[in-house]
Amino acid sequence: MRTYILAAAAANILLCSAQNSAQLIRDPGVYGPPLELVHLYYDQFPTGIAVSSTGRLFSNYPGGLDPNNTNNGSNGRYTIAELTGNTTESAYPSVAINSPPGGAINYTTYPPSGAGYSNYFIGSQSIVIDAANRAWILDTGRVETPNGTLVPASYGGPKLVGIHLNNNTIFQTIVFPTTVAFSDSYLNDVRFDLRPNITASGKGVAYITDSSVEGRNGIITVDLGTGQSWRHLDGNMAVRPESQWLAYLWGVPLYSFNPGRPFGYSTFGADGIALSADGATLYWKSVAGRYLYSIPTARLRDNSATSEVLAQAAINNHGQTGITDGMETDMNNGFIYHGNMEQNAISFYNPANGTDSLFVRDPRINWVRIQRDTVDTMSVSTNGYLYFTCNQLAFGTGFYPGTDRRQKPFALFRVKLPNNGTKVILT
Ligand SMILES: *[C@@H]1O[C@H](CO)[C@@H](O)[C@H](O)[C@H]1NC(C)=O
Ligand SMILES: *[C@@H]1O[C@H](CO)[C@@H](O)[C@H](O)[C@H]1NC(C)=O
Ligand SMILES: *[C@@H]1O[C@H](CO)[C@@H](O)[C@H](O)[C@H]1NC(C)=O
Ligand SMILES: *[C@@H]1O[C@H](CO)[C@@H](O)[C@H](O)[C@H]1NC(C)=O
Ligand SMILES: *[C@@H]1O[C@H](CO)[C@@H](O)[C@H](O)[C@H]1NC(C)=O
Ligand SMILES: *[C@@H]1O[C@H](CO)[C@@H](O)[C@H](O)[C@H]1NC(C)=O
Ligand SMILES: *[C@@H]1O[C@H](CO)[C@@H](O)[C@H](O)[C@H]1NC(C)=O
Ligand SMILES: *[C@@H]1O[C@H](CO)[C@@H](O)[C@H](O)[C@H]1NC(C)=O
Ligand SMILES: *[C@@H]1O[C@H](CO)[C@@H](O)[C@H](O)[C@H]1NC(C)=O
Repeated sequence: MRTYILAAAAANILLCSAQNSAQLIRDPGVYGPPLELVHLYYDQFPTGIAVSSTGRLFSNYPGGLDPNNTNNGSNGRYTIAELTGNTTESAYPSVAINSPPGGAINYTTYPPSGAGYSNYFIGSQSIVIDAANRAWILDTGRVETPNGTLVPASYGGPKLVGIHLNNNTIFQTIVFPTTVAFSDSYLNDVRFDLRPNITASGKGVAYITDSSVEGRNGIITVDLGTGQSWRHLDGNMAVRPESQWLAYLWGVPLYSFNPGRPFGYSTFGADGIALSADGATLYWKSVAGRYLYSIPTARLRDNSATSEVLAQAAINNHGQTGITDGMETDMNNGFIYHGNMEQNAISFYNPANGTDSLFVRDPRINWVRIQRDTVDTMSVSTNGYLYFTCNQLAFGTGFYPGTDRRQKPFALFRVKLPNNGTKVILT
């Protein structure tokens, strides 16, 4: 007994002197160029950010990820807004378009469904500015009921809406057929290639991820000239979530929470999307996955009889690059920037050497406890900054333990791109 006590005391002394004399290496927590705080969101819960060529800022607020993002026709709220000041936002392009009559949910169906209006925004998951400085709103047509149940879409809800920024008028609305946007699809993110020679109609194309947690994930191609759209890669493992996927944020595991059911695994499929600087390659990742994939865009534009088997044979797997929601590329470097939320970071994949690198790291990138969408849809402005929202999605009711632990404000940051990187201009 005495020997034991002496040994323990000696060990304590050693421990103390080691603590006093040694400077132990530790995680510095920060890396890369400084973050600049651009905007604080005190009202609704944002996901994406878009920056126009003149520096106008826009965000989307999906009712499909937060039932308090209401645009129900009576309260003047919005699913798309322009950021009008450091802490202020207003419905864009108008309150009226953001206010479907009777609300975004049709309660006369059983179960309740998304309202089937093609001329109103229902629940937007993305706003993106194209190379012609026009805004495009991607509407999932789906929102959550007050108890957090995601309703199915109705025809008219899922659509792509183009707006001229100079006069804020809608110039095109492409409504997706129910064979392209299923009632349980979740149209998540979109990229544009306006080069006239890639389609017969000459107006360019859009590529869209379907991240549906219910499971029919795929990539949709839209001909902006004809308005026609089609799907590829349905069911391929590259667009599906990985089975029993579990991410950690601040050390805490992100089990998914669904009202009235046991905890499970999150099943978000293909979500973040980025078009290479030359428009020839589309990159994407599933949220519930660690692998980065790409495909030659020619395989997505092809809709001939054998196009699906050719598309599935053309997928490239670039290996693991962490946990990501939003992705973006730049012009000068050709890097594929992506959130790396488990590392409180944004990283980039360099196609030229096939490896992933750390770009910027900061504890504010996952500011409050558990976070999935630390970095959501990112947009590279024309003046060489990467903008990104920190929206604390993983602290919301969709994840263990199912209570709302988010703390306002949500934040918009920007960070200077390396080597004068700029927005990709494909015209
Ligand atoms: C919605 O807002 C109410 C009232 O502020 C709050 O009690 C509730 O927790 C919020 N729900 C979600 C899912 O954020
Ligand atoms: C619209 O949302 C507000 C809360 O923002 C709520 O008080 C009101 O009851 C809702 N109206 C409808 C028709 O759902
Ligand atoms: C608010 O925005 C203005 C530009 O509109 C900027 O000059 C100012 O620094 C911002 N203030 C804060 C506290 O970020
Ligand atoms: C709501 O559902 C009913 C029944 O299917 C349908 O007749 C009506 O057009 C729907 N309303 C909207 C706005 O989608
Ligand atoms: C808005 O601007 C676009 C682009 O300049 C133009 O083609 C269109 O006619 C304008 N629409 C209206 C309603 O003024
Ligand atoms: C479209 O034209 C550009 C030159 O403007 C060329 O580099 C590119 O290869 C062409 N793309 C296709 C798909 O033909
Ligand atoms: C949530 O609300 C919807 C629509 O009101 C209802 O159909 C569903 O049963 C509710 N679910 C739970 C788990 O309470
Ligand atoms: C790949 O390229 C990037 C960008 O130039 C560089 O930072 C990184 O170190 C390279 N990776 C390797 C393993 O050489
Ligand atoms: C970035 O652009 C500035 C101004 O045009 C130039 O002086 C600088 O050399 C450029 N830096 C790099 C790394 O290309």
